Amino acid sequence: MDQKSKEALDESARTILKQNDRGGYTIPTKDLYPFQWNWDSSLVALGLSTFDLDRAWTELETLLSAQWDNGMVPHIVFWKDDEGYFPGPGEWGAQRTPPTSGITQPPVAATVARRLFAHPGNPDARRAVRLVETLDRWHQWFADARDPNGTGLVAIIHPWESGRDNLPDWDVPLSIVDTSGVGEYRRRDTEHVDASQRPQKADYDRYMALVQFGRDNAWDTDVIAHHSPFWVADVGMNAILRRAETDLAWLADAVGKPLIAARATARARQLEKGFERLWSEKLGGYVSLDLKTNQQASDLSAGSWLAFYAGSVHPARAEQMMQLLAKWQEKVRYSVPSFDPTNPLFDDIRYWRGPVWAIINWMISEGLTRNGYVQAADRIRTDTRALIADTGFFEYFSPLTAQGGGGDFFSWTASMWLSWATPLPDEIA
Ligand code: GLC
Repeated sequence: MDQKSKEALDESARTILKQNDRGGYTIPTKDLYPFQWNWDSSLVALGLSTFDLDRAWTELETLLSAQWDNGMVPHIVFWKDDEGYFPGPGEWGAQRTPPTSGITQPPVAATVARRLFAHPGNPDARRAVRLVETLDRWHQWFADARDPNGTGLVAIIHPWESGRDNLPDWDVPLSIVDTSGVGEYRRRDTEHVDASQRPQKADYDRYMALVQFGRDNAWDTDVIAHHSPFWVADVGMNAILRRAETDLAWLADAVGKPLIAARATARARQLEKGFERLWSEKLGGYVSLDLKTNQQASDLSAGSWLAFYAGSVHPARAEQMMQLLAKWQEKVRYSVPSFDPTNPLFDDIRYWRGPVWAIINWMISEGLTRNGYVQAADRIRTDTRALIADTGFFEYFSPLTAQGGGGDFFSWTASMWLSWATPLPDEIA
């Protein structure tokens, strides 16, 4: 890539972030996702910080300002109405102002806050202190509401909480969800994007049944913990939370909040212990676990490699996982596919059943670097850069053909370009 094309792509990425800015928060992309999404916003703050650090902090602050009284930070905040989206505030029935969904999403915010804080030119420490307190309450909510027995694994109650909506990991746990009461509804996603790229109707019915279950129980965390039809330890969610706790501990120390730092460290240790239960000797990697049946998922996903992002992986296990990654890479042109490309369920363009996602690649690559796998990390960065430079700022990409899927002019893809995938000056030919 020459200097000129790099500058043009940088400019396009900044333009996307500015055009998706709705005043204090950034939507993922217009039409398909017209509100504030939790992990999207956090990850977008990384891109914003490359040209407007103040605005990057605001992105996190706006998201966290929608925190519930019990500490949860919701997965969608409906700051403004938009008729073109389903399920909207009415379906969630969360009774909040601003209206929100009733579930959460992977807590990358603390990890991002730590990076923003370490940025030259920062910080206003008071701003960071407020964030630290809010993040502590959110993380404590995970422990209380999603691991009430203190096992060290947190559960998700809906596939959407994982952020990896239609991953095959959820097929078996979802199969027991009763959809008989769901009734008629009108999906809006397939009006914006080709149906072949979106979850299928049977899955969507189950998603709606779970939304209705939460709403009918007023999103009561006790009732949900005991009776949710879906109660699964997602390997991605657990890895991301573990990492977030260590970053929160660091940040809390840096801003003079030792009690919060101690709490976060204790929670991180607990999660590290729980994570052991996700190791599959048979598959040679970490996988999700259905906590209702104690059944591990039968396959690896890109989330398995988030174990490196979570912390340090025992060298023998790490070697095993790196060999598997190499096998996956023989099957695809661009890594990392969201699901095992040697598996019959792999679908290169259907959302989380195969496509490559720039944000997951960033997390995997970041974790690999920290664990000493610098070359492997760089390969993932190079692949991501090629996908974006050759295809555009799509929501995700086919690992086989580089075809862009889902929405275009996508904020988190633009953000990953600016903050990570873009070549360094000495890499420009
Ligand atoms: C989809 C993705 C989810 C993301 C949201 C907005 O639901 O699966 O991870 O947060 O879109 O981009």
